Amino acid sequence: MKALILSGGKGSRLYPLTYTNAKQLIPVANKPVLFRVIEAIRDAGINDIGIIISGGENGRRVSDAVGQGKRWGVDITYIEQDAPLGLAHCVHIAEDFLGDDRFVMFLGDNVIEGGISELISEFENSADNCQIVLTKVEEPQHYGVAELNPDRTIKQLVEKPRNPRSDLALVGIYMFDKHVHEAVQKIKPSWRGELEITDAIQWLVDQDLIVHPYIHRGWWIDTGKPIDMLAANSKVLEELTPKVNGFVDRDSQVDERVFVEQGAQIINSIVRGPTIIGENTRIINSYVGPFTSIYHDCLIENTEIEHSLVLEHSALTDVPARITDSLIGRNVELSHSELKPRALKLTLGDHSRLGLV
Ligand code: DAU
Repeated sequence: MKALILSGGKGSRLYPLTYTNAKQLIPVANKPVLFRVIEAIRDAGINDIGIIISGGENGRRVSDAVGQGKRWGVDITYIEQDAPLGLAHCVHIAEDFLGDDRFVMFLGDNVIEGGISELISEFENSADNCQIVLTKVEEPQHYGVAELNPDRTIKQLVEKPRNPRSDLALVGIYMFDKHVHEAVQKIKPSWRGELEITDAIQWLVDQDLIVHPYIHRGWWIDTGKPIDMLAANSKVLEELTPKVNGFVDRDSQVDERVFVEQGAQIINSIVRGPTIIGENTRIINSYVGPFTSIYHDCLIENTEIEHSLVLEHSALTDVPARITDSLIGRNVELSHSELKPRALKLTLGDHSRLGLV
């Protein structure tokens, strides 16, 4: 089997972070979501992986970060998509790479509990033409939605319906055989101008091909929005095996659910887990609360922070209020100034969001 990872798109719901980075490269628990996807595919025994990237800067950032796949023992082929014309369009442009092989398509911004090994072996050993993964969600209108017949076969699939007829959402992991190539040729763009994979799968159902719905019972998060990013971060942190590879001084209290990466220093601080402190990051006279990931080469000094994500090379010093529920990008400087006038001095990128107390 082969794998196709979708890592194009604009990531507009994560602006401003995605102006200068692909959304799939934003880390949860200090590892880019895309790397977690590659590992899940490799662990399921698949080594031949195609990655859809956008044509611009973000595409180059993805190929620079991932490389040829040696680090994971896999072979990576990049397929450039000129514009985000839809998930089914990705299958269409990957046809040469995929050939007649069965394959798994994995959205590069999805994080799923327990990996995909079981899913893959179930599909590999079946006569199914397609396998989709469904899970119950609270707001199905934001996803592709499946309605099942009483015998658990698929009745209908609809992309982001206004009035969903079920609470079963399509998870961003799909398995196909060669019939999907005909399906993506036959469908037309949707109201949002995209070739929807949901419509391609509906076409397979309408041709009486076998589309098996697999119900996933663990957690699953599509990290499209900041709140989802924090939720995925919390879930992955809870599963992390804690370890202290850095330095913790005697005046600090670091609880047992904290992962301290190499070269990190914790000085006179309190760190409560589940939390990860990245390589060469320094935490000085500070409080880092649960569900926080601080990436590499950061400085947190005289500051309190919890339930947040801080990306590399950022410095948070003397911040007067506790930071919570926040997503802080790369090379950000946040500090307290004694200079007059006593006022907020901000340099915020387009689409920044700031909640002041
Ligand atoms: O996450 C699950 C949902 O993913 C499903 O329930 C929906 O049925 C499915 O359409 C999809 O919806 P989203 O609106 O979340 O898809 P999004 O535009 O965020 O794209 C998903 C991934 O695919 C993301 O990593 C970007 C990439 N992508 C997307 C498009 C439209 C591409 O590489 N090329 C594209 O043309």
